[in-house]
Amino acid sequence: MSKKALITGITGQDGSCLAELPLSKGYEVHGLVRRRSSMFSKRCIVTGGAGFIGSALARHLVRDTEATVLVVDKLTYAGNLESLKEVADSPRYSFLQADICDQAAMDKAFADFKPDTIFHLAAESHVDRSIDGPGEFIRTNVVGTATLLQSALAWWRANPQFRFQHISTDEVYGSLGAEGFFTEKTPYAPHSPYSASKASSDHLVRAWHDTYGLPTLITNCSNNYGPYHFPEKLIPLVILNALDGKPLPVYGAGANVRDWLHVEDHVAALCLVNEKGTPGETYNVGGHNERTNLEVVQTICRILDELRPRADGSSYESLVTFVKDRPGHDLRYAIDPTKLMDELGWKPKHTFDTGIRATVRWYLENDWWWRPIREAKYAGQRLGVAK
Ligand SMILES: NC(=O)c1ccc[n+]([C@@H]2O[C@H](COP(=O)([O-])OP(=O)(O)OC[C@H]3O[C@@H](n4cnc5c(N)ncnc54)[C@H](O)[C@@H]3O)[C@@H](O)[C@H]2O)c1
Repeated sequence: MSKKALITGITGQDGSCLAELPLSKGYEVHGLVRRRSSMFSKRCIVTGGAGFIGSALARHLVRDTEATVLVVDKLTYAGNLESLKEVADSPRYSFLQADICDQAAMDKAFADFKPDTIFHLAAESHVDRSIDGPGEFIRTNVVGTATLLQSALAWWRANPQFRFQHISTDEVYGSLGAEGFFTEKTPYAPHSPYSASKASSDHLVRAWHDTYGLPTLITNCSNNYGPYHFPEKLIPLVILNALDGKPLPVYGAGANVRDWLHVEDHVAALCLVNEKGTPGETYNVGGHNERTNLEVVQTICRILDELRPRADGSSYESLVTFVKDRPGHDLRYAIDPTKLMDELGWKPKHTFDTGIRATVRWYLENDWWWRPIREAKYAGQRLGVAK
């Protein structure tokens, strides 16, 4: 028997429900409530979901939506199941340890899980490591992406609602001078083995769309920061070295400019593109937060001086150490996100000032997550000085 309920004021601005209606108990809803959008109940594979951005996406999908998530991850040095602890007990979350280069394992993952979509984030992601050892970058980022595309193609042919979303970087566009922004039409000009491997994977994804009709979406995002970021990357490295009283390495003169985006804003963009993006299209993601590397380091030092003053009263900035520049170091990245904002309505929530403060606080409060990594996997040593 069905019952009728008149309930007002329970719908969030983004269309999500702020209260759960007991529909399963037979209530009918008439016109007042926008249900969560279709995307949010999709079955989603997240490759690289034990990494920094993939885990943020998986946590969001399980925690804040009705999606069912399978994380597929090889668990390289950068993968960490502790980053998924918050959602590990959910019946809508599962994990498969597998290499995306393994065609049989990927075919089986598709057949078993039956995804509506895949968010492909698995990659080797650190430029300095790509300088020391490019082979693994070619294998995972290029061969792995081609392998996944083949599994996805076979799956899509029998399941036409399926979409393949490829997560990429602004580094494929190369380096800007003092002026200008990367748009979706900027020609590719990668300089590092990392960015060249990501550029190759983008080309493969586009080719599978243009040749076979696979419904693909590509996003090229600027530098991310936020919680659960592996401490080889600039922001967590500086926070943790500062807390340990170690030198804060700044490459060259610290003049290289990056366009920083909080990982939660990237995740929101990924979900929006998955839901509303046009297959075959590319969307650039960035929040107009350009800073030189030196400015980023100085900002972190100022926040730490306030939140965790040093015993001797000196500023953390006294630990700044200028070191030999990275070979082939791109001068400036900056994203023009107009297409994503105008066509899909994306808008970042965090400014750099609010996001970086929240991030420093997170590292201060969550040493359970980063201390084992610093002790067992990576203690902050210099990587990527070409021989
Ligand atoms: N971090 C950024 O600032 C940024 C910006 C734009 C785009 N991206 C892209 O986003 C994606 C995720 O970046 P991230 O910073 O979270 O990377 P990350 O290094 O933190 O995580 C990568 C994950 O991929 C997994 N992985 C690596 N090789 C694999 C393989 N062969 N098979 C299965 N899993 C494998 C790792 O175990 C890890 O969990 C990457 O594709 C990267 O190019 C990153």
